[in-house]
Amino acid sequence: MKNMLEPSEQEIREMIQLTTEKIISFLDELAEPVVFDMETVREEAYQASETIPEQQSSLDDILDDLFENKIPYALQTSSPGFMAYIPGGGIFHSGLAELIVKVTNRYVGIDITAPFLNQIETDVLKWFCTMIGYSEKSGGTLTSGGSLANLTAVICARTLIMGDKFSKGTVYASGYVHHSMWKAFHAAGISSSQIRNIKIDTDFRMDIQALEQAIEQDIEAGFTPLMIVATAGSTNTGSVDPLNEIAKIAKRSNAWYHIDAAYGGFFTMTERGKKCLLGIEQADSITLDPHKGLFLPYGTGAFLVKDREDLKKVFSHNADYIPDKTSAHELWDFSEMSLELTRPFRGLGVWLPFKMLGAGTFKKALEEKLELADYFYDCIEKSGDWEIIAKNDLSLSVFRYNHTNYSVDQLNKINRKIINYVNDKGRTILSGTLIDNNFVIRNCILSFRSHKMHVDWLIDDLNEALSELRGQFT
Ligand SMILES: Cc1ncc(COP(=O)(O)O)c(C=O)c1O
Repeated sequence: MKNMLEPSEQEIREMIQLTTEKIISFLDELAEPVVFDMETVREEAYQASETIPEQQSSLDDILDDLFENKIPYALQTSSPGFMAYIPGGGIFHSGLAELIVKVTNRYVGIDITAPFLNQIETDVLKWFCTMIGYSEKSGGTLTSGGSLANLTAVICARTLIMGDKFSKGTVYASGYVHHSMWKAFHAAGISSSQIRNIKIDTDFRMDIQALEQAIEQDIEAGFTPLMIVATAGSTNTGSVDPLNEIAKIAKRSNAWYHIDAAYGGFFTMTERGKKCLLGIEQADSITLDPHKGLFLPYGTGAFLVKDREDLKKVFSHNADYIPDKTSAHELWDFSEMSLELTRPFRGLGVWLPFKMLGAGTFKKALEEKLELADYFYDCIEKSGDWEIIAKNDLSLSVFRYNHTNYSVDQLNKINRKIINYVNDKGRTILSGTLIDNNFVIRNCILSFRSHKMHVDWLIDDLNEALSELRGQFT
């Protein structure tokens, strides 16, 4: 009897061909506006829940349903007009790598099972360390995203600075740190009483004096500074904390210095990014997010450490069923350097696009994003219609409509309406945030598909929103 779990060569060709056709039309239509009501879609999605299928269905039918009824009715995260949150886009080459990874299913959790593949992943991490300016001693692991990299940072800091007894340890982060950091503190057993939320300065960067004061007070009160977290490209405003100054404070207070560079880190591939992130290499650990700054599909983050022996001190454990090391050659054993044992071969998703396209392609694309953000900023500043809240350090600008005629509540409603108007047009997508209780509009240009034409769409749609809605502002 035929084993249904093992398709024939012909069946595999057919499945790939069918899927390829769907993918090509999906990519072809990416720039087309898709307009729908998300609340209705949510309701319909809820109703669409299915019980476990007992019958077989053809791939043809399944793909039709997926690509016609399900995939389009989502936030258009891979479209060129997506400038909400932190985009990336999802390069095809990495999707291709994913297919190879899943089908070949090689094991890279430990170093002796697929040495060449392990070396590929190690190389990818070494490339990242070099981009950052880390030395040969550095290392890291690929994670599922920035949140898990941040959690790994807290576990390292806690263990390496205070061992098991960390209840008198204090951690410091600005109010603009990504919320995954607060989750990480709690998940790693750091209680609220140990967490210091350091205020930000007028440029939305961590206030250094406030940090120093908080540390002094804690030491006087018998606490031990355990960890300082800086952000290199905050999610709210894109601001980069004063990395050098914080490094000095971390050194003086013997605290672990972590930089969350999930958004900004890969801009170090560009000259301007390097200047903006000056001092990043002084961190004990760094979070990067290739699924943001390298345009990869979701599912790849990176955790880097200045000294890879630190990772082994925290995560290395033996077990009788784990094979002995047979070679003195240094391949990195990721099971000894992270929480994971069995893990996807994430390295290929970075390595294949870099091999095919060359690093210069990524550098150029990142430079283009910085230029587009400057262009966008200049346009809205010149128009005089918008209040600039945060000028882009990198590729994220924050602005809003403001007028003395309106109260804070009214202005917040107006700016929400503006975002809704633009998003309802469907060709560009923005998101907002709250700054000092004011609802403001964020524009983050980081999709590899976004070019000047798409920024012009956004500017046109914002202007149209203003002229259409002005009469309704109350
Ligand atoms: C600065 C920053 N850190 C961490 C994260 C969390 O990363 P992820 O969503 O990959 O878990 C994000 C996500 O947007 C972020 O912007």
